[in-house]
Amino acid sequence: MNRILIGAQWGDEGKGKIIDVLARKSDIIVRYQGGNNAGHTVKFDDEKFILHLIPSGILHSNKTCVIGNGVVLDPEAFFKEVDVLESRQIRVQGRLLVSEQAHLLFPHHRLMDQMREGALQRKHVIGTTKRGIGPCYADKIARTGIRIVDLKNPGYFKERLKAVLHEKNQVLQKIYGHKGYSFPKVYQEFIKHRKRLLLFAADTPKFLYQASRKKKNILFEGAQGTMLDVDHGTYPFVTSSNATVGGAITGSGVSPTLIDSVIGVVKAYTTRVGEGPLPTQFPPALMKIVQKQGEEFGATTGRPRRCGWFDAVVTRYAARINGLDEMSVMKLDVLSGLKELKIAVAYKIHGKVVEDYPSSTYELQAAKPVYETMKGWNEDLSSVERWKDLPKNARKYLKRLEKLLGVPIKIVSIGSKRAQTIFL
Ligand code: GDP
Ligand code: IMO
Ligand code: MG
Repeated sequence: MNRILIGAQWGDEGKGKIIDVLARKSDIIVRYQGGNNAGHTVKFDDEKFILHLIPSGILHSNKTCVIGNGVVLDPEAFFKEVDVLESRQIRVQGRLLVSEQAHLLFPHHRLMDQMREGALQRKHVIGTTKRGIGPCYADKIARTGIRIVDLKNPGYFKERLKAVLHEKNQVLQKIYGHKGYSFPKVYQEFIKHRKRLLLFAADTPKFLYQASRKKKNILFEGAQGTMLDVDHGTYPFVTSSNATVGGAITGSGVSPTLIDSVIGVVKAYTTRVGEGPLPTQFPPALMKIVQKQGEEFGATTGRPRRCGWFDAVVTRYAARINGLDEMSVMKLDVLSGLKELKIAVAYKIHGKVVEDYPSSTYELQAAKPVYETMKGWNEDLSSVERWKDLPKNARKYLKRLEKLLGVPIKIVSIGSKRAQTIFL
């Protein structure tokens, strides 16, 4: 059984928790896009882990994890994460394979990310995580990237880095007034990582093909979310990879004919960190309440996440683009105590009712949600174990989401811990 798990909103839906729950029935967990811009939180017993580059499945000691070719890898961030996990008794070496085709993220990518954002007019700022993700993917597509496999041959790596850095330094000096990078310094830094990184490097598309022939269960762990997808999201306020279902295919080298199902993860409301339109954004007082109850602060950058009502226009779109077979609804507990709940079922744009998500971000900025209102509930949900023990209005709310999206709900999450999960 090979499953792809996708964020169906703007990221931080609770993918880490669901991956951790589903990993039990998987043999291999694969990250296929993004980089250390992601922050996936997993809590169990009294432990809390935030994974950035390494698949959340690593927390299960008997699983193999893969970082696919579609991921961009910053060696400094990678080894920091490996070391933190190993210091907490989670063995990584020997259980994690990194695609040799994955692109390396260099210090100049991080710097360029900061410089570009800093130079933009306020309304054009994306609010990136400043991890260098965009510039690294830009180099990949421009064919000026450098891959892990290039480190196998230090002579070749040296040649490429020299050529690439020459161009980067020109841009940094002439456009941004930065002094640029010293080639020997960057070269030495990467050569220092070389031996250790190559211990992880593998032909992961082949490994995954062979594993699926042996009927191993593979779980594909999406990062970010549908609305942050570079093609299908709120461009240009997106990340630089395909966070939708196609990204799992190109980013892992596994054929779509080997995929059995696609699972969407949604919050029972909506959040967004970074800039860009959020049509259902709460008014300030309600925002404060939900931010506090939901602990809505970024797992990677600590920035407050903007919060809003559940947006069925967005999630219906995500269900279509990804072909969702089922969904997990997260953080239902956070909505306890609200007298009424709203769901956006359409937008009004310049006086016209629109049911489909508009491709134009300019239009989306003018969208006024058309809301349906439902009754809330007061009960604390954090120890509910069965569907039938959920308050009647909570069940009604979930049934309505199911109907609006046309996708069955299979998991309802009512707390951050493993046990706080209701299976339907
Ligand atoms: P991801 O990026 O999609 O993996 O999500 P994040 O880890 O960035 O953010 C989700 C946050 O919500 C984390 O702090 C989780 O511990 C927390 N969380 C997940 N599920 C639930 C839930 O059902 N209820 C509550 N209250 N918190 C949850
Ligand atoms: P997970 O996997 C939420 C957002 C940033 C910014 C935009 C571009 O934890 O859901 P980038 O650094 O990628 O160039 O930033 O994307 N962003 C995320 N928002 N969750 C994430 O990951 C995100 N990764 C990037 O805030 O708006
Ligand atoms: Mg996150």
